[in-house]
Amino acid sequence: MTGAHAAWLPAAAFRAIGSRRSAVHGRGLLVETVRQELRDACARFGGSSEADDDAELVLTSDTRPGSPATDLGPEGFTLARQDGVTVLVAGGPAGILYGFFHVVRLGEEAFGADFPVQTHRPAMRRRMLDHWDNVAVHEVMGQVERGYSGGSIFWSDGALTKDLERVRAYGRLLAASGVNAVSVNNVNVHATEARLLTDRLDDVAALADELRPYGIRVHLSVDFAAPVSVGGLRSADPLDPAVRQWWAGASARVYEHIPDFGGYVVKADSEGQPGPFAYGRSHADGANMLADALAPHDGVVHWRAFVYNHRQDWRDRSTDRARAAHDHFAPLDGQFRDSVIVQVKYGPIDFQPREPVSPVLAAMPNTRLAVEVQITQEYTGQQRHVCYLAPLWREVLGFRPWRAAGAAIAEVVAGGGGMVGVSNVGDDRFWTGHPLAQANLYAFGRLAWNPSLEPAAILDEWIGLTFARGADGVPEQLRRTLHAIMDDSWRTYEDYTAPLGVGFMVSPANHHYGPDIDGYEYSAWGTYHFADRDGIGVDRSLATGTGYAAQYPRPWSDTFESPATCPDELLLFFHHVPYIHVLHSGVTVIQHIYDTHFSGAERVHAMRSSWQEIEQADLVDGDLYARVAERLDEQVRSAEEWRDQMNAYFFRKSGIPDAQGRRIY
Ligand code: GCU
Repeated sequence: MTGAHAAWLPAAAFRAIGSRRSAVHGRGLLVETVRQELRDACARFGGSSEADDDAELVLTSDTRPGSPATDLGPEGFTLARQDGVTVLVAGGPAGILYGFFHVVRLGEEAFGADFPVQTHRPAMRRRMLDHWDNVAVHEVMGQVERGYSGGSIFWSDGALTKDLERVRAYGRLLAASGVNAVSVNNVNVHATEARLLTDRLDDVAALADELRPYGIRVHLSVDFAAPVSVGGLRSADPLDPAVRQWWAGASARVYEHIPDFGGYVVKADSEGQPGPFAYGRSHADGANMLADALAPHDGVVHWRAFVYNHRQDWRDRSTDRARAAHDHFAPLDGQFRDSVIVQVKYGPIDFQPREPVSPVLAAMPNTRLAVEVQITQEYTGQQRHVCYLAPLWREVLGFRPWRAAGAAIAEVVAGGGGMVGVSNVGDDRFWTGHPLAQANLYAFGRLAWNPSLEPAAILDEWIGLTFARGADGVPEQLRRTLHAIMDDSWRTYEDYTAPLGVGFMVSPANHHYGPDIDGYEYSAWGTYHFADRDGIGVDRSLATGTGYAAQYPRPWSDTFESPATCPDELLLFFHHVPYIHVLHSGVTVIQHIYDTHFSGAERVHAMRSSWQEIEQADLVDGDLYARVAERLDEQVRSAEEWRDQMNAYFFRKSGIPDAQGRRIY
C-alpha cells in the first residue's frame, strides 16, 4: 500500500492498549483479527498480547445460552473494570471486534480506576456504504461517479485493483467506525459493471476476502435488465418464469463464490436505468423477484426509492419532483418481501444541504426502510469545502414525523434497513481528498451505530484518534481550532449557497459545483426556484400548490402548509413568498439572503485564518496542512463567488437594497 494516510487509526492511537498486558479469548476470523491487532500494538508499545494470567485488558465473548451477554446481540459488548482489570464481554466475535476499537477510542480512559460500566450495541443492524465506483472509467462520470478523492480503491484500469492491502486497510477503518456492509459498484450499472454479477465474480470475491476479517459484507449494484444485458434473454419482466430462473441461477453462483454475500442494490426506473415499469410491473414486483432469488441464501435487496420524472417541463406546475418517491412507493407499503429494504434518500429531492426529511420514511410502516445520505459532498462542496455533515444527519435521524406521538427517523430505520451512505473514499492518499472530510466518513459509521451521539462529540473522538501524536494526545489548540472550523461548517455552507431550503442553484454542467442560479431553472430535471421580480420559492402547499406538504402526517403537514408556521430554513422549499416576507427571525427574505451570504463568506475567511495559526504552531504534518490550506483557499474563493452572484442576482430581481448598505457586486 503506497503511503495512505492512517486516518483515525494512527499507530499512536494504540498506545494505551499496546503498552499493556492483554488477553483475548475466543475463536473465529474476527477474533483472530483482534488478536493480530493486539500483537501489532504490543510490538510497537512494549505490551504483551498473550498475558493470560496477569492481563490488564481481557476481551472475551460469552455466547452460552442464557448468558446475559447474549442479550447484547452478536455485535454488542459491555466494558467494565473488575479488580483492576478492564474486561470486555461481547455477545459474539463481532462484538469483540467493535469492543476492541471502542477501547482504542477510549485510550487511557478505559483503564482508569473509576471507569464506569458501559454497554454498547448498535442501534442499526445494517450500516452500509454505497460506492459509486465504476470498474471502467466512464466517459462522462469518470471512474467514481460524484467522487472527489481520485480513482476507485476497488477497481483500476478496468480490473480489480492490485492494491488489495489498501482495501483491507479500508475495511479496518470502517470497522473502527462501525460500518458493516459495502456495495462495491455504482448504482448506475454500465455494461462492464453489469458483468460483476456473472463472469467477474472472482473480482468481487477477492474484495470480500479483504473486507471479511473486519466484519464487512460485500453487496453489488445490479442492472435490473441483466437477464437481457448479460443473460441473453429477451425480457427482464420480473414475472416471467425464465427471468426468475435466470436470477435464481445467477444468485446461486454468487453465493458459491461469496458465501456471506450481502445482497443486491438496485436503482430501477430512475434517471434512465431500466426497471419493472417497462413490463407494466410495479416496484414491488421487481424487488420481490430479486428477493426470491436471494431468499435461499439469506441475502437482501436494497431497492432505491429515488424514482422521479427527469423529463419535466418547468411550465407544468402540477408535476413536482418532491412528490415522486412518495407517490410511487407509499401505495406499495406492505407489498414488499421481508428481505427487501426500500432505500430512501433523506430528502425528497436530491441530497441538498437543506431539505425537509422525506415523507416516505413516515409512510411505509409495513416495509423495511433504510435512510440514504450522501457522504460524498456532491452538493455540499465536493471535498473542496469543509462541510462537516454529522449535524445534518443528526437532524434527519432525530426528526419525528408524528411529533411526540411517534418514533424518530432513527427508530423507523433501526428496525428495518438502517443507514446507507454514499462513500466519499477514493485512492487519494488522504482517502477523502480533503483530509477533514474523513470526519464525515467516521461520523457516518458512528451515527449508524448510535444515532443519539452528538456531532461535536463524534468530531472530538475523530480528532482525538486522527491527530494523536505522543503520549500527551492531541494538543489543545489543535482540538479547539478543528472544532471552530468544523462544528458549524454545514450551516456556514448553507448560508453562502441556496437560501431557505430552495436548493439547486448549482451549475447544471455535469459537475454540480459552484453557483449558477438559473442553471436548472428551465431544464427538465424538476428542480426550480421560480424567482421573479416579486418573489421566490416553490408552492408545495395543498391549498394552492403541488400538495407535497400533505404527504406528511399531521401535525407536520399543517406546519408546512402555511408560511406562518413553516420553519424559516424550509420556507422557500414549501412556499412562494414576496422578497419582503418577514421571517420568524424578524428579517425579510431578501435581507436574510444578503445577511447570510455576507456572514457565511466571512466565516470561511475566519476558518482559513484559524487554520493558518495551526501552521505557525506546527501542530499537524506538513502535507496534511498544505492540502487543507489549499482547499481552504478554494473555499474562500468559491464562497465569495456564491455571495456575489446570489446577492447581485436577488438585488437585481427585487430592486431592494441591502438595509446595511454593503457593497453588492
Ligand atoms: C444524483 C447524482 C447522480 C446519481 C443519483 C442517484 O442525482 O447526481 O450522479 O446517480 O443522484 O442517487 O442515483
